[in-house]
This record gives sequence, C-alpha cells and structure tokens, in this order.
Amino acid sequence: MISSKSLQKIDGKSVQELAKELTLHVPHRYIQDHREPSFVSTSSSPLPSIPVVDMNDLINVLGSDKDEFKLLRSVCQEWGIFQLVNHGVDKLLVETMKEQVVKFFDMPVEEKLKYKLIEGDYQGYGQTILHTQDQKVDWADRFYMITNPVHRRKTHLLPQFPPILRETMEKYLEEVQKLAMNLFGLMGEAVDIEKQEMIDVFDDGMQSVRMTYYPPCPQPDLVIGLTPHSDAAGITILLQVNDVEGLQVKKDGVWIPVSFLPDAFVVNVGDILEIMSNGVYNSIEHRATVNEVKKRISLAMFFNPKLEADVGPAKSLLKNTRNLPMYKTIVMEQYLKDFFSRKLNGKTFLEKMKIKNNETS
Ligand code: OGA
Ligand code: NI
Repeated sequence: MISSKSLQKIDGKSVQELAKELTLHVPHRYIQDHREPSFVSTSSSPLPSIPVVDMNDLINVLGSDKDEFKLLRSVCQEWGIFQLVNHGVDKLLVETMKEQVVKFFDMPVEEKLKYKLIEGDYQGYGQTILHTQDQKVDWADRFYMITNPVHRRKTHLLPQFPPILRETMEKYLEEVQKLAMNLFGLMGEAVDIEKQEMIDVFDDGMQSVRMTYYPPCPQPDLVIGLTPHSDAAGITILLQVNDVEGLQVKKDGVWIPVSFLPDAFVVNVGDILEIMSNGVYNSIEHRATVNEVKKRISLAMFFNPKLEADVGPAKSLLKNTRNLPMYKTIVMEQYLKDFFSRKLNGKTFLEKMKIKNNETS
C-alpha cells in the first residue's frame, strides 16, 4: 500500500489545465481499459428516456387520490431516477447559481487551489481520490464538501468562497433542502414509510454538494467523466449547469443518455433510500461521459440522514408490511466513513449492506 499523499498527487493541477495543453492523446492514467459502450438506438427501438415527474401533480393529490403515489412508487422502483418539473425553486436563483458555478471554474487555477483537496480528506477541489496505485483517473475536476450540519463545514471551503458565489449557494442550498424534504415525505409515503419517520431521519440531515467540471477531451470514448456508481445518499438533486449533456444511467443492463428538460432537476434515488425502502426502490447506477469539444459542468446536491441517525430499513415500513429487513442497519456517520474509504465501483458498496441468508441483522 503506498501512501495517499503520493497517490493524490496526479499532475499537480487539474484536468481542466491538462485539457488546455492537450491536442491529441490522453495520458495513460485517464484511459479506461474496459469502458462499456452506450445504448445504441436503432429505428426499431427508440431511445428510452427517464420518466418525468411534475411536482404540482404530487402536491395536489395529497390526501386524496393516490394514483400519483402509485406513479411515483413505480418510477422509484423501476428507474430510481426522474426529471422533476415545476419544482418550485426560484428560476432566477437557479440561473444565478449556474452562472456562479461557471465563474468558479473560470477562476485562475491558483485561486481554485486555495480549496485544494488535502491528503487523507475527501472535501475540497481536486481530481479522483485514489485508493490504489493502478486506479484510473476520471476526466474531471470536482469540488465536494459537506454543507450541513453547519458546524461540520470546513472553514477554508464554503466560508472562503467569493461573496456572490457563497451567498447564492447558501440560498440555493436552503431552497433545494426544502424541496428535498417535500420529496422525502412523498417518496416515503409512496412506499409506506410514515412521514414522521422520514422527518426524524432527514430533517436537518447531512447535506453535501459536488460541483464537477468535465473538460473537453480529444479522445472522449477512451475516458470516463465519472466512474459508474450509485449515490450513497437518500436522494440526489442534480442541476446541469451549462446545457451540455453527458449523464447516463444503467437501465436493464444498458447505458442510456439523459436529456435534461429545460428548468428541470434530475432527482435520483440513492443507496440510503433503497435501504430505507427495504429494497423496493432502486438506487440507479449512473456515470458521466465527456464531450470532444465542449466542457460540461454540473452541480449535485446530496441529502442524507442526520449523522447520528440509523441507516437501515424504515421501522414503520417493516411494521406496516411485516417484511423482514433485507439490509443491515448502521449509524450514518459510520456509513459515510465506510463509503469514502472505498473507491467508486457501481453498486458494490450497497451489496455490503445486504443481509445474506445466513446472517441476521
Ligand atoms: C455525482 C453525479 C452526475 C453529473 O456527482 O454523483 O452523479 O452529471 N454527477 O455530473
Ligand atoms: Ni452520482
């Protein structure tokens, strides 16, 4: 095992800087040996697209007709991802947030390196965190940080942002948090988890964000912008910042590109909601590809249980359905630690949470 210090130093700067100098060939450490191809559409099989959920429809059915819940449940079960329209977050705020994220990555590299990911940590600005010597590096620069609870914020990250970016992000985090809480209530109810249990677990929960910059790449098919994974979150709310596509989801064994609708958020079920739903919901496996000529920028927000909450099948669901738990229960803080000590690899982390036949919870 070689130290993470030597591992994290890849080329010192960022993929963004590397891409500026590169005209032909991508360095070996970014080349994926066995990248799975994308879905190829033929005239007989049109490209499937991820479902669309309208927040207005969901709010309006509250307490009355349950058809919308059935729809939400089947979407979370069969897909684990949807586009959310009429989400209610102020359009101007979203547009300002996008502009500010673009500006952040446009800053000189020296400025961004003030937030550099430091040895042994997973928060800050940098490239793929390496766990093994031969691990491939994703074609992207990322900035990941915990934003709630507030006392867990790193003082050199969000608090040191340029003022407009910081203020916009604070407001955005607050607004999207409200939306996430509404979604948790609805997605929980659709699978028989009592609303109060969702509130107890997620209210003032662990919240984090990741801004990602995917530079153009002269050999886009040889690299990956973001390794296939499912998110270790309750839900993720993703904003595509600059209208360039690249997100793909694995559905029935094939990779399908996601075309973002204007003004929509993409919401995905993470591992924790799959666990809480005792396996009814599916945490979708996804990846990001890159473009030959255009950069792509995204902003993902992850909504998680409180650090002291239990991550496991929801108690009210087990009680209501009398089903046996299919996943283990561990404390969120430990869950997080375990997740970040491994490299991303599809849904393998979730597999570790499954109760095998010869085990008990
Ligand atoms: C993530 C993620 C997708 C994207 O940050 O976990 O899946 O489109 N991002 O950048
Ligand atoms: Ni993700």
